[in-house]
Amino acid sequence: MRQTLVAGNWKMNGSKDSITALLDGIEQGLDAVNSNTEVAVCAPAIYLPLVAEQMNGTIVKWGGQTLSKEASGAFTGEIAASMLLDFGCEYAIVGHSERRSLYGETDQDVADKYAAARAAGLKPILCVGELLEERESGDTENVVARQLDAIIDQEGVEALADGVIAYEPVWAIGTGKTASPEQAQEVHAFIRGRVAEKNADVAEKVQILYGGSMNAGNAADLIGQTDIDGGLIGGASLKPEDFLTICKA
Ligand code: PGA
Repeated sequence: MRQTLVAGNWKMNGSKDSITALLDGIEQGLDAVNSNTEVAVCAPAIYLPLVAEQMNGTIVKWGGQTLSKEASGAFTGEIAASMLLDFGCEYAIVGHSERRSLYGETDQDVADKYAAARAAGLKPILCVGELLEERESGDTENVVARQLDAIIDQEGVEALADGVIAYEPVWAIGTGKTASPEQAQEVHAFIRGRVAEKNADVAEKVQILYGGSMNAGNAADLIGQTDIDGGLIGGASLKPEDFLTICKA
């Protein structure tokens, strides 16, 4: 059986004080989280040492929000997979729609970052998802397939077993508009089916998270769907009570 994973994506939010308080709040509620649920937070890189210090010894894992496709060298401002590992990261988000739309990351960049994370022993959380226009024009499956195939073509389908997939419809991110459980399940089943065409074992194993305005009120219905194995949570991951409610869903 696949484990449930609830991962917070803090994006560019927080301060030393607010992050300390957030982690304190999360830590206090962890006892009530089911042992089949993995919990992770993806923090702004500069706060990773703080997260590592505070979460060490708890069930909470942590990760970066992006990484360089390069291993080291003259790449000003970038952070390498080995640096994330140096601070105990288990995960790195790759291909978040904000990276794709605001920083011009292409499918090829995302595949290279996936490869860099995987080669270093990090678990990439690969984000895929369609824009509103793409959904309205009936292109959701084509877009998601293209984003997925970028990894499969470069790394082989087995590479997906070393990571996590997050389906995040772009129109639902930070908008308060969540995909309905049925809409999300439909795309999750499509993703798993596409992986299964290449390798049924990998399809059965890979965790597929939903992301996009998941909150304390809708998490249980979403995570209750057959092919939804957890959530990638933005806004609601900044509030300990809401994040914990999702972890318990
Ligand atoms: P949201 O963000 O929960 O605030 O919609 C999700 C994400 O961007 O990963």
